[in-house]
Amino acid sequence: MISIKNEQEIELMRKSGQITYEVLMKLKDFIKPGVTTKDIDKFAHDYIVSHDATPSFLGYEGYPASTCVSINDMVVHGIPDNTKIRNGDIVSVDVGSIYKGYHSDSAYTYIVGSVDKQTEDLVNNTRKALYAGISVIKEGIKLNEVCSAIGKVGRENGYGIFECLTGHGVGTTLHEDPYIPNLSNHESEGIILKSGMTLAIEPMFSLGTKEVWLLPDEWGIITRDGSVAAHFEHTVLVTKDGYEILTGE
Ligand code: MF3
Ligand code: CO
Repeated sequence: MISIKNEQEIELMRKSGQITYEVLMKLKDFIKPGVTTKDIDKFAHDYIVSHDATPSFLGYEGYPASTCVSINDMVVHGIPDNTKIRNGDIVSVDVGSIYKGYHSDSAYTYIVGSVDKQTEDLVNNTRKALYAGISVIKEGIKLNEVCSAIGKVGRENGYGIFECLTGHGVGTTLHEDPYIPNLSNHESEGIILKSGMTLAIEPMFSLGTKEVWLLPDEWGIITRDGSVAAHFEHTVLVTKDGYEILTGE
């Protein structure tokens, strides 16, 4: 069952999304060599709680932090610790907040200092895939048109597209129906978008494999071949003639 939000709920989703967005924008200046992933987490946590919201991930299925900070070959769900950011890293930060019961979820991959051209392209193309997916959204289309637009960018660049990691509906809980795979798939063909749906679209691509390992901490997910991975995510509202990005300007 895919929930449809009414105008009042959408207003709360907007507030939630705005706080999440601001965290990721403020982190652009905060993330530097020497900063630990725990410092990033504390920054995000403190920003969220000082804006009348709650970190969406903290305690979610036992998750111990407010953000996921995933460096280089870590795809997603990196638990913040004492690891220091270094020049040449790509750092993906995934964060969510709850405002008056409504969740928003967003992620951004930061390039620290200088990286090789291939890595820089991966980051830019993963962001491009996010907007390629979002730009087709409007009431009446098949969800698979979104999946397919995202997957096309990944495929054209020869990137690894993780089949087991998907976007999702978002609202009164962090993860709602439907699953939103990052490539064309049969199940999404049968789902028609309606205005009032709120979706977390989140492409993740690697420079190599689409296969992953789960770390012993049972959260962190890394590429099996050690290739670097990027991740971008927005919470998006479906409208009659298009969409509204809730975790953006
Ligand atoms: N954006 C991430 C996802 O949808 C959020 C993970 S929250 C965690 O998977 F608590 F599970 F880490
Ligand atoms: Co998500």
